[in-house]
Amino acid sequence: MDERINKIDTAAQFIASRLEGRKPLAAIILGSGLGELAEIIEDRITIPYTEIPCFPVSTVIGHKGNFICGFLGGKCVLAMQGRFHYYEGYDMSTLTLPVRVMSKLGVQFLFVSNAAGALNPEYKVGDTVIIRDHINFMPNPLIGPNMEDFGPRFPDMTCAYDLELQKKALEIAEGMGIKLHRGIYFGGSGPSYETPAEVRFFRSSGADLVGMSTVPEVIVARHCGIRVFGMSVVTNVCNTQNVERNFNDGEDVVQQAGAATKRMIPLFTKLIESL
Ligand code: HPA
Repeated sequence: MDERINKIDTAAQFIASRLEGRKPLAAIILGSGLGELAEIIEDRITIPYTEIPCFPVSTVIGHKGNFICGFLGGKCVLAMQGRFHYYEGYDMSTLTLPVRVMSKLGVQFLFVSNAAGALNPEYKVGDTVIIRDHINFMPNPLIGPNMEDFGPRFPDMTCAYDLELQKKALEIAEGMGIKLHRGIYFGGSGPSYETPAEVRFFRSSGADLVGMSTVPEVIVARHCGIRVFGMSVVTNVCNTQNVERNFNDGEDVVQQAGAATKRMIPLFTKLIESL
């Protein structure tokens, strides 16, 4: 048997055994901007990653690593509190194992959030952006023998980000008086930030945002037939010139992501309610 599938099955069976018969409809990867969403999930069951057999162990000390299953907008959800990044040194199949596990548990929708730098000069710090497409600059997580049980060898990516969910999100945001952009996310490996030359190059590719996450999970979710909705919080505007005082600082990223939470939490909740 394929060792990768063994691991996925083992982890999924363990999680299912803890869910008291619940069947999550949607999964949420709580990236920057959405961390606090975990606190409003009702009737929670918390499963630390450290207890799940075959699950990756977080490399970030003090970083939360839990699955939280409960109810949001009246729907059963499975949230990942703490995600894995390629720059932490995981290989792609380990990094995306949680998404395969979600698929095994019957999840049909994946909601993802992240922090990103703005390449589009019209975007401001603190803006929120619906991801409408991506450009992948990391290794493709589907490289290797295809897992036929999950999906095809050459999965389509024409509508990687679900059009209906985007439309609904725009309607909900309009009703709430929230301004949203729709943009293209450029997924780089990090962990170094981009040089100004790279920023100009990525912008010229048509991308509006750059970040270091999300794309591997989205590709694997689409391979499994899971419908995806993604949003970015603009935590900094990327530097296009080699000017000394322009420097990126991880602290800004954390602060700005926190401020956008107030808008993103009700939006995600209403969107999930509408499923
Ligand atoms: N570049 C890459 N990733 C990021 C950035 C950035 O400027 N900001 C937040 N995540």
